[in-house]
Amino acid sequence: MKYGFFDDANREYCITTPFTPLPWINYLGNDGFFGLISNTAGGYCFYRDAKLRRITRYRYNNIPNDIGGRLYYIKDGNTVWSPAYRPAETELDSYECRHGMGYTTFNSTKDGVNAKLTFFVPLGDACELHRLEVVNNSNETKDLTLYSGIEWCLWNAVDDSQNYQRNLSIGELEVIGSTIYHKTEYRERRNHYAFFTVNTEVDGFDTDRDVFLGAGRAWNKPVQVENGKSGNTVASGWYPIASHSIKVTLAPGEKKSYVFQLGYIEVPRDQKWESKGIINKKPAVELINKYNSDAAFEAAFKALKDYWDNLLSIYHVESKDEKVNRMVNIWHQYQVMVTFNMSRSASYWETGIGRGMGFRDSCQDLLGFMHLIPERARDRIIDIASIQFENGSTYHQYQPLTKRGNADIGGGFNDDPLWLVACTAAYIRETGDTTILDHPTPFNNVEGSEKPLMEHLRRSINFTINNKGPHGLPLIGRADWNDCLNLNCFSEEPGESFQTFGPSEGPVAESVFIAGMFVKYGKEYADICDYVGLKDEADSIRAEVEKVKTATEEFGWDGEWFLRAYDAYGNKVGSNECEEGKIFIEPQGFCTMAGIGQEKGFGAKALDSLYKYLVNDYGIEILAPCYTTYHVELGEISSYPPGYKENGAIFTHNNPWCSVAATVIGDAEKAFDIYKRSCPAFLEDVSEIHRTEPYVYSQMIAGRAAVHYGEAKNSFLTGTAAWVVVDITQAILGVQPTLQGLSIKPCVTKDFGNYSVVRKYRGAKYDINVIQDGSGKGLVVDGAAVEGNLIPAVEGKKEYKVEFYI
Ligand code: BGC
Repeated sequence: MKYGFFDDANREYCITTPFTPLPWINYLGNDGFFGLISNTAGGYCFYRDAKLRRITRYRYNNIPNDIGGRLYYIKDGNTVWSPAYRPAETELDSYECRHGMGYTTFNSTKDGVNAKLTFFVPLGDACELHRLEVVNNSNETKDLTLYSGIEWCLWNAVDDSQNYQRNLSIGELEVIGSTIYHKTEYRERRNHYAFFTVNTEVDGFDTDRDVFLGAGRAWNKPVQVENGKSGNTVASGWYPIASHSIKVTLAPGEKKSYVFQLGYIEVPRDQKWESKGIINKKPAVELINKYNSDAAFEAAFKALKDYWDNLLSIYHVESKDEKVNRMVNIWHQYQVMVTFNMSRSASYWETGIGRGMGFRDSCQDLLGFMHLIPERARDRIIDIASIQFENGSTYHQYQPLTKRGNADIGGGFNDDPLWLVACTAAYIRETGDTTILDHPTPFNNVEGSEKPLMEHLRRSINFTINNKGPHGLPLIGRADWNDCLNLNCFSEEPGESFQTFGPSEGPVAESVFIAGMFVKYGKEYADICDYVGLKDEADSIRAEVEKVKTATEEFGWDGEWFLRAYDAYGNKVGSNECEEGKIFIEPQGFCTMAGIGQEKGFGAKALDSLYKYLVNDYGIEILAPCYTTYHVELGEISSYPPGYKENGAIFTHNNPWCSVAATVIGDAEKAFDIYKRSCPAFLEDVSEIHRTEPYVYSQMIAGRAAVHYGEAKNSFLTGTAAWVVVDITQAILGVQPTLQGLSIKPCVTKDFGNYSVVRKYRGAKYDINVIQDGSGKGLVVDGAAVEGNLIPAVEGKKEYKVEFYI
């Protein structure tokens, strides 16, 4: 069953009912101001940091879980309705929500009135624009009252939801004309405020939630709206909101349009005040004036569309598979942008008050983002590297506003450092820009500790070399990629953090997964060394890689698949000898990608074992059989009920590893099959089972052992997005950036047929046609046959015509 349809021409998903199984959301904003918006206009917004600069309030564990957000009401006689269905929840005559690239629109009708709502964040400005257009399609004149509404959050989203004894006395506002300014805490240490305005004179406003709603009422039935009034209240303390009311008379056929703006302003500290207690509104007024007309709104909306046209023209495929085209050309790349912006910080499922930006998460998000805006990727790499410690280990997370490491969780996740090598290598492959390696980058953000980025990479690599266990395999620390495999922690009391409890690091527990990473990224590091002329270092790192490879072949192979780890007692994890958790997906993907045991056929066997034990209808599960009891020596992984999360769900992030791994051993069938199984567009028809959005990946899909097999959770913020881009665009379709230039190496099934890719790369445009005529002729560039896979780059050349014959 479906709840809408893809509109590829407009790059939208059109949702045709407000009653999706879960809120189906979208993201507004590119840099700075961000909003999350659901298919009933719910959600919240913030500036840079969803914890420290929350602008509007969101209630977790709410019922319905999507109430609040952007509140628009139309009062038509005795009927009050909302174009996004919520908050009024009045049955509509028609409803449509379209999520597009950085914007969301609603188009609904009730009793002859059509209303369109459009939401987006204009490029380069810290505000969200909302346009409400109303048309009278009936034969009678309509006297309507329109209401807007948002609820302010008192900035720090954690304090906002817990420190009521203070909060309920601190709310402060100013109202000037149609603009409501939220200035809580501005009187003391803050130098920022927010505003909500509309480009017309209003008939009234409310900023006191209790007055607007009326005693005992909720957003679906505000008493003011019901009575067609506004109280012109200026709240003091309690619950500040912002609501406008506008009376409008529409003759038959008449249309009116209003542009609302929700903005965020920072003021230099010495210019905070206009006069005593009155905030400096100059910068706000400038921003308000910039978007105060339909024309300005439309120009900004067009600029946003042009921006996306341009981004999505960098990689474009045309194949006979409509779903592949749709996902590659639109939604995979879009999701990558969202994960680049958010990491795992803010969604409907990631509260925005938790973990900020993850080190490994952000590094991996970059792998799929690199081609879109390499300059921003470069800045991000430097930010991430700046939370590394001098010994090469790293903080596990950092706060987006401060860019400082999160001391509550600290470091000790031994895979983290290697991801820095992964993303930097990908950056250089994309851009050829090695100057990034010279960039002075601090350790732990300490001024004066700056060393060239290359030194950070070196310390990352050496961290693994210097932290190996009894089998010569890398020590795992608190956990590796799988945050829930806690082999050193031994937590027995509820409420303790599984990762940081106890010693958390030990001299015995080893990770075969990190071994795979080291072999793969050690080679990539050595390639960079060669590329910048550090030949001796390249050789010595390759020798280290060889050692770990040999150790993995000897001690990390279980006969039919790769082991997962050795625990703190030196016992095997992920072995046929284990009762539960016999096989894990991660090392099969990573060790095969790394080419470990290639000559011995390990990769093919490992992937066959995945198909034998872990493949289900929607992807590949993370492990089997699931743990049925809590194992203190394994940690959080065994805390989940079987089939969920890291205990046997499809943890979608690692599925593309296996698809890429299949291409490494030349198995096109498996590569494409794995890609398709969990790909959202391929699951659209079972949306009632899958439940999350069919246009983006979710973090997990419950496995066969789960009570709700096939049900997905935690949509949007998953590293799957980036890895899938790497998988389908580079490994399968075969357009691969390398240090030396663009390389063409498809791994596609016969059935996939011919296809073409347009790729913009290092300042040139490549028109690539892959032709499956059975000739096996390989690469032809501008009519001339070329040996191998690399397109020879010609200085100053702007266009390449490329054929690749299979
Ligand atoms: C975390 C990742 C981790 C994954 C698997 C995600 O929630 O953000 O860092 O690799 O879970 O445990």
